[in-house]
Amino acid sequence: KTVSWSPSAAEKGGYKHFMLKEIYEQPRAIRDTLMGKHDDGEILLSDIHLSDGDLAAVERIQLVACGTSWHAAMIGKYYIEKYAAIPVEVDIASEYRYRPKIINPTTLVVPVSQSGETADTLAALKDAKQLGAKVICICNVVDSSIARESHGVLYTNAGPEIGVASTKAFTTQLAALYLLALFLGQKCGHLKAKDIKRKFKAIEALPEQMEQVLSDEPRYTEFARNFHNHQDFLFLGRSYNFPIALEGALKLKEISYIHAEGYAAGEMKHGPIALIDKEMPVVVVATASEVYEKTISNIEEVMARNGLVIAITNPDNQLSGAVENFVVPEVDEELSPLVNAIPMQFLAYHIADYKGCDVDQPRNLAKSVTVE
Ligand code: G6P
Repeated sequence: KTVSWSPSAAEKGGYKHFMLKEIYEQPRAIRDTLMGKHDDGEILLSDIHLSDGDLAAVERIQLVACGTSWHAAMIGKYYIEKYAAIPVEVDIASEYRYRPKIINPTTLVVPVSQSGETADTLAALKDAKQLGAKVICICNVVDSSIARESHGVLYTNAGPEIGVASTKAFTTQLAALYLLALFLGQKCGHLKAKDIKRKFKAIEALPEQMEQVLSDEPRYTEFARNFHNHQDFLFLGRSYNFPIALEGALKLKEISYIHAEGYAAGEMKHGPIALIDKEMPVVVVATASEVYEKTISNIEEVMARNGLVIAITNPDNQLSGAVENFVVPEVDEELSPLVNAIPMQFLAYHIADYKGCDVDQPRNLAKSVTVE
């Protein structure tokens, strides 16, 4: 008797697609990103290669990235501004490149890239360096071009990501940006050892909380059966979860070819609300946060127009008027994007798989875009 076996099936470790395998690898990947980064109230980033003096002198930060890495950078801005109180700009690398740049030696530029080879991000980094900026990259591939060109690096340690749609690289970028924000917060004197201890403990607890979301996968399969025929989706979120709405929409359009838009929920009244009718699925991140009540008002506006609300919620906050409540554990608001990313990944994955799309290699897309 012969056993059917192929190298590719073996690499997928029993999963149907690399993307699904990589979704499941996230708790492990986060643990690896955090490993060795904390000791007794101090964040240790040994490959940053900037002196305490350089770090204390930083007055502005520019985060530069493309695609999913850009979404991670948007959340990174919120982390750094909150914990280090340093003003942060976030740019799409292809936009940053062709604009006059205001840079001096107190400017820290942080390229964020899974592959470390994205042409626009690499070019943006070279321009910034030439103008005198200090550069620390957040990168997944050791010794990649972006890692080599930067003064310092913070590796995400997600392991190889094969699926074109980024999953574990994204959540580990969030973990790395959180660490960078705590690190800067400590160097600038905004955070004390006891704050660092508490915040590190919170992120260390995340992998287990992510496991809980992963165990809910069958519900997303069922959802895909009911929703794969819709032509358009809207994704809404606020604050730390606004970029999660953008990421949810990106995941869905890139692998299932369904048109999707992500919006800041508070911005809905300035346009997308015109699209809402009884055919329109609206995925809303409505987990515990300082802006929870504001998000609920937005949900009510969608419901009043018969939109189909799909809520990402915590166990005690399920919405009776929603067509679906996908429940995730309640975590610190700042860390909620790492947990809320998983429902977005499952929604896109299962709809694409149900439609028979080539999940790991969607049409017209490349894993690493090394040309402009
Ligand atoms: C491509 C990939 C995306 C990725 C983006 C940026 O578009 O398909 O998954 O987010 O490039 O890539 P990088 O390697 O720089 O993070």
